[in-house]
Amino acid sequence: MSLKGAVNPPGDKSISHRLGLLSLLAKGRCQVANFSPCADCASTLAAARLLGVGVEQSGDRVALTGAAGELTSAEVDCGNSGTTMRLLMGILAGRPGSFTLSGDESLSRRPMQRVADPLNAMGAQVRCREGKPPIAISGAPLHGVEHKLPVASAQLKSALLLAGIQAEGQTLVAEPAPSRDHTELLLKACGADISRQDGLWRVSRSGLTLPPTLRVPGDASSAAFFICGAVVTPGSRVEAHDVLLNPTRAGFLKVLQRMGARIDIQEQGRDPEPWGLVSAAYSPDLRACQVEAWEIPLLVDEVPILALAATQARGVTVFKQVGELRIKESDRLGAIVSQLGAMGAKLEERGEDLLIHGPAKLSAPDHELDSFGDHRIAMTLAMAGEAAGQAPRIKDADCAAISYPGFARDWQRLKA
Ligand code: S3P
Repeated sequence: MSLKGAVNPPGDKSISHRLGLLSLLAKGRCQVANFSPCADCASTLAAARLLGVGVEQSGDRVALTGAAGELTSAEVDCGNSGTTMRLLMGILAGRPGSFTLSGDESLSRRPMQRVADPLNAMGAQVRCREGKPPIAISGAPLHGVEHKLPVASAQLKSALLLAGIQAEGQTLVAEPAPSRDHTELLLKACGADISRQDGLWRVSRSGLTLPPTLRVPGDASSAAFFICGAVVTPGSRVEAHDVLLNPTRAGFLKVLQRMGARIDIQEQGRDPEPWGLVSAAYSPDLRACQVEAWEIPLLVDEVPILALAATQARGVTVFKQVGELRIKESDRLGAIVSQLGAMGAKLEERGEDLLIHGPAKLSAPDHELDSFGDHRIAMTLAMAGEAAGQAPRIKDADCAAISYPGFARDWQRLKA
């Protein structure tokens, strides 16, 4: 069956997280519209409330009253959310008090030392257990440091900037390649002293004030499933409205265009981040392309669904340097290769690269596919079923709610 019609993705997860978490340091009150309804952002709001932020929620409207840095010592459950945990590490490192951060089974396996080490170089007292959660933090006075990040990770960069905003002297952060910049944009909107020069972020201690209102654009990473789903499913035409078009998030659209996908992008507003309409139609003439290492941070969460598009493209698509995917909510690289492979796709991990030979005829296997409890794998497999014209059984398909609680409902509407 084809996908036809319009979809409004939920509010962007990354921006919603940052609004909830910046409220810990900022004063003032912000009326947020289109706050993400996802389970990860619910973890952030619960953490913010526990630590001292005023949170009043009514559907996708959330009123945040900033705690202005006056935080309550607490044990925080971050659920499945790496963004909640890593950004909190940077915020809490500089606040007086004792804090512990823990998470579910998946989050408990994820590396945190890469965040703790540079924070500790700033004078923080952040301890992990064998490099992983739970994290114990005793707030301490911080001093600015020049950081050279070993990986382009927005979570790591954000943690250091959020510590830097509380530190004595200047904090500098150099990334090997640009990653999503929502923290920087929101810090600016809150009045922080932050600037960028020659690829280096520079931040100094600043008081923050929340903007009185803010509307979160629709989540580009959620929209990506139906955009790519339409591209690979015969007869499809989908309009995704209100999609965040920040260039540090829209890398997947550039790759789809390079593959010859029939998509059209119209920017419709900028308040403060750009958003607009993305139309996508079935594209029978996809061609393989190379996705360079520097592009990966601009589409890191879209590699699974782009891999599905690549299974339908003529030639060998190469995603360079995607080893970071092994330490996401699941080993996403292994999951893509094994599960799309079980549907008939030809994929291989070669060192840190992912190679996909296309086009391949996909079909649902007799056995159940495994999402490994990873929302982005579950939604990719659902769209692979669309492309195949068969519905595979997917273990833990409900985990889509981690980022996109309305996924099944929106999918049904597009299939109707
Ligand atoms: C995120 C950054 C990315 C991404 C994650 C959300 C963020 O992680 O995979 O889903 O909101 O900063 P890394 O910073 O680990 O690449």
